[in-house]
Parts: sequence; C-alpha cells; structure tokens
Amino acid sequence: MIRVGVIGYGYWGPNIVRNLRSLECAQLASICDTNPASLRRAKKAYPDVPVTSDPDELLCSTDIDAVAVITPVWTHFELAKAALENGKHVFVEKPFASSSAQGEELIELAEKSGLKIMVDHTFLFTGAVRKIRQLLDEDTLGKLYYYDSTRVNLGLFQHDVNVIWDLAPHDLSIVDYLIGGRPDVIVATGEAHFNGLTDVAFITAYYPGNIIAHINVNWLSPLKVRTTLIGGERKMLVWNDLEADEKIKVYDKGVHMTTREGVYDLLVSYRSGDMWSPKVEATEALKVELGYFVECIENDLTPFNDGMAGLRVVRMLQAAEESLKRKGEAVYA
Ligand SMILES: NC(=O)c1ccc[n+]([C@@H]2O[C@H](COP(=O)([O-])OP(=O)(O)OC[C@H]3O[C@@H](n4cnc5c(N)ncnc54)[C@H](O)[C@@H]3O)[C@@H](O)[C@H]2O)c1
Repeated sequence: MIRVGVIGYGYWGPNIVRNLRSLECAQLASICDTNPASLRRAKKAYPDVPVTSDPDELLCSTDIDAVAVITPVWTHFELAKAALENGKHVFVEKPFASSSAQGEELIELAEKSGLKIMVDHTFLFTGAVRKIRQLLDEDTLGKLYYYDSTRVNLGLFQHDVNVIWDLAPHDLSIVDYLIGGRPDVIVATGEAHFNGLTDVAFITAYYPGNIIAHINVNWLSPLKVRTTLIGGERKMLVWNDLEADEKIKVYDKGVHMTTREGVYDLLVSYRSGDMWSPKVEATEALKVELGYFVECIENDLTPFNDGMAGLRVVRMLQAAEESLKRKGEAVYA
C-alpha cells in the first residue's frame, strides 16, 4: 500500500484526492493547503483524513511514501525538490517546472535517490489519446502529416502563467507522446489584452519528416472548443473531446498526386471513402494515471510520463515563450 500525501486542494487538487481515494493500492495519507478555506473544504469532504496548512509536516512525515504536488506552477520546483530530498516519490502537476534547469535538477535528484517522478500529463491516459496512439501504432493513419489542435474557452485566467503555460502543456504532451522525438523549430505568436499575460496564442512546431503541429490556445473565446485534426497519408481523423459518444471520427479521405510522362501539370485526385467512429474507453484518466503511478513505485518501473517527458514539454514551452517575445521568430528547440 503506497501512502500518498497531497499538497494543494484548490481547483484541481480535489480531483487528485477523489481518484486516489478510489484506488485500492493507495492510501490517502494527508492533505495540505496553505489556504484555510481550501483546508476546510478538504476536512468537510474527507473527515477521516489528516489535514495541515504546513507543507513541511507532510514532506517530513515518515508515514508518507509519495507526495502529489497540485499547486501553482511557480511552487512545483520547491515542493517537489523538498519531497525528493525527504525520500518521497513525486507526482507533480503539469507543467513540470517553470524552467528546464529546474526540471533537470529534479530529475538528477530523483535518479540519485532512486525515486520516481511522474508528471500529470492527464490526456495521455484518456481513452481518446490511447485510441489515437493505437491507430498510429497500427499504421491505420499512414505517414503522419499534421496535428492541429484548438483548445479555447472563456477563462479561466491564471495569475502566475500565460495561456501557453496553462493550456499548451496538454497538447505538447500529446504531441510528444504521439509524434515522439524533438521538434526542430518552434514558432509562437500571441497577444496579451489585460494583465500583461498572453491570453491568445498560436504555436507551431516543425518536426523532422515534414510533420507539423499547430496549437491554438485562447482564454478569450466565446465558445469552448476542444477539437483536434490529425492528418495522415492513409486516413484523417477528427477528435472532438466535447463529444460524449463519438469522440473520434476516422475519415478514409486523402490526396493522391501523380505526374505522367509528357504531362507537366500535377494530376491530383482526391479519395473520399467511409467514416467510422472507433470505440473509446470511458474510464477516468486520472484514476488510470494514479493507479499507474502506484504500480511504477511498487514494481520499480519508469513511467512513460516521467520527469524526462515533463522536461521535454517544458523545453517546448520555453521555446514557444522565446519565440513569442520575438514576435514569432523561429526558435531552434
Ligand atoms: N492536469 C490537468 O488537466 C490540470 C487541470 C487544472 C490544473 N492543473 C494544474 O494543477 C496545478 C494547480 O492548479 P489549480 O487550478 O488547482 O490552482 P489553484 O490556485 O486553484 O489551487 C492551488 C492550491 O494550492 C495551494 N497552495 C499554493 N501554494 C502552496 C504551498 N506552498 N503549500 C500548500 N498549498 C499551496 C493554494 O492555496 C490553492 O488552494 C497547476 O500546476 C495547474 O497547471 C492541471
């Protein structure tokens, strides 16, 4: 039984706590939040679980094996570092850290101490992303051409990070998982309209093999949209995460180009065949992910969403931030 303490019971923390509680292989050992109102909510929801406003109490406890850090981004490094220094495995929210240097330091510390780091890249555990990965692994889509995601809604404005650091980690972790490797170049543009933090942004990542990923993140959209197009040589796919039933639709559509001897113009033909919607598992991603965290600790496995995966995403975020500052100049990632 792995005993887990949770730091941070704001917006996302309750989801972590609820899912930890539902696991048989884990024990929710303690909840910590510096905000008294959050602590009161935790106490009311889980009267049998010890709560504290002092993170050190939880970090130094000998009754805890792992710590979940569900606090704002700028606190991740300090809390995760303290947890590792106290011999605890760490589950840390996305984005892993505020800089790649911080991420590297945490990874080194965990390696030295034989401890696990898992970064909460929740979407990798959804039925939809697992199905898309399966379709790619089985070569159903053929050679990948592009990933094009729209992740927009009205708010929630963050106080410490811009829309890139808030929303793009989802897509960058998905792209990292589906495409793999490292983009050659990242370009980002965007604008801030209120408090100096960018609230609308467009990120493009150029991968080897002519694969292009485009991510549109926006806190100023009248509508909530969570739609991703993925184009391959053989099939094209639309993933609408807001759809209850048919989240993924695979289209047997494509383009075929030929040149004939003596004919200098390209001959373009379009294929328009069937569409089908594959079955997508409906299990709660966080439950699967937290179960996997415990499994990795118990069986000494390296999670695929480990510190290195978190670091790759942070490096892409940094490159995007740098390009944004230079009005869309190409940054070599
Ligand atoms: N994986 C996802 O889909 C997902 C979704 C939302 C948020 N998140 C991530 O979760 C993290 C938290 O986001 P949120 O929206 O819940 O923020 P929030 O501000 O609503 O909650 C954070 C909580 O942490 C507490 N806190 C801050 N510093 C602390 C400290 N040093 N010790 C103890 N408690 C402390 C605050 O009092 C607050 O209650 C962020 O990294 C965010 O990116 C992930």
